[in-house]
Amino acid sequence: MNAMITDTIEYIGVDDTDIDLFEGQYEVPDGMAYNSYLIKDEKITIMDTVDSSKSDEWIDKLKKALGGKTPEYAVISHVEPDHSGSLADLLANYPDITLVGNAKTFPMLAQFVDIKDAKTMVVAEGEELDLGNHKLKFVMAPMVHWPEVMVTYDSLDKVLFSADAFGKFGTIDAKDDEGWSCEARRYYFNIVGKYGAPVQTLLKKAKALDIAVICPLHGPVLSENLEYYIGLYDTWSSYKPENKGVLIACASIHGNTMKAVKELEQMLKDAGEERVVVSDLARDDMAEVIEDAFRHDRMILAASSYDGGVFPVMQTFINKLAAKAYQNRTVALIENGSWAPSALRTMKGMLEGFKNITVIEDSVTIKSTLNDESKSAMKKLCDKVIEAGK
Ligand code: FEO
Repeated sequence: MNAMITDTIEYIGVDDTDIDLFEGQYEVPDGMAYNSYLIKDEKITIMDTVDSSKSDEWIDKLKKALGGKTPEYAVISHVEPDHSGSLADLLANYPDITLVGNAKTFPMLAQFVDIKDAKTMVVAEGEELDLGNHKLKFVMAPMVHWPEVMVTYDSLDKVLFSADAFGKFGTIDAKDDEGWSCEARRYYFNIVGKYGAPVQTLLKKAKALDIAVICPLHGPVLSENLEYYIGLYDTWSSYKPENKGVLIACASIHGNTMKAVKELEQMLKDAGEERVVVSDLARDDMAEVIEDAFRHDRMILAASSYDGGVFPVMQTFINKLAAKAYQNRTVALIENGSWAPSALRTMKGMLEGFKNITVIEDSVTIKSTLNDESKSAMKKLCDKVIEAGK
C-alpha cells in the first residue's frame, strides 16, 4: 500500500506478525495491522497510535514522517490498547502535544495511560478542529466498538477516519483468496457483532458525508467501490443474512454425529441447496463458524448429548451466538445420544432467549448411529430446511 493516502495524509501504521491471538482470543493467521495516520498541515495531527508491542517501530515511522517537525494534536478515536498502546511513548517524545478526545475518552484513557500532565481537548458531536487547510469534524460512534469511540471526517480530502469500523484481521497487505470481506466479516461479527444498532446509527450519520476514502484502524485503506463495503456493513449490522445457504455446526464425540451431518449435507445438495457449509465445532476456528452463522439464512445444530446436557463445544457455540445477538434466522436441530439423549432439550432451552429465531419443529434424534428411522427423520428435516429457504 502507498504510504501517502492523499498529498497530505500519510499512513504510519504497523503490521504485527508476532501476535498469537488478537484481543486474547481470535486467531490471526495473517497477523494484524494497527493503523495510524499523520495529517501534514499547519497543525500536524496524528490519528491514533498503535499497540504497545509495536511502539518503537511506530515512533520511528512517526519521526521519519514528521521530518523533524513537531505534532500539534493526537486524535484518540478509540481508547482500546491496540490503538492507545503507544500514547505513553508519544507523550514522552512530544510532551506538548494536545490529545483530542470526547467526554468519555479521557476518564477511560487515564485507566490505561498516565495523562495527568498531558494537554487535552474535549470535542463533542459535530465540532470542528481547524488544522490550517484540513478541517476535522468529529462524529460520535458510541459502541462501535467501545462507548468512547468517535470517527473523524476530513472535509478537505473527503476522508473518514472510521475507527474499528471497516477494519479486518490480517496485516495491511495480507492477501486472502476471498478478498476483503472474508476477514472483515469474521472481524465484524466477532468483535462488533453485538452492536448492530450503534453501527446502523453511524452508517446513517456517514450518509450525510461525502466520503472518498475510508481510513480504518485495522486493514487496508478503502478508496474505491465504497458502496460495496458500506452495503455489507449495512447488511451485517441489520442482522440480515448475506447469502442464502445453510451452516451445519456439528459437535461430535466419536464421529457418528459428523457422519450423519455429512449425509445431511449431501441430502441438502441433492435437494438443490447451493451453499452448505459444515463446521466441526471442536476443531474449526469458532470465530469462523460464528461468521458463517451470521452469513447464512439457515443453521442446523447437530450435537451429541453429554452429562445430561449437550456436548460442551456446542454449548460454547450457542453462548457465543447469544453474546453476539444472533437473530432473524431459521434453526434446525439434531441430537445424538446412546441411552438418554439430552442435547435437543438443552439446545432448545438455550435458543429460547434469542430474538426472532424460528426453530423447525421436526428435529432428529439419532441413537448412536443413523438407522432407517433417523435417516428418514433427517430427510424430513432436510425438506423443512429447504422449504424455509424459499
Ligand atoms: Fe481495534 Fe476495539 O479495538
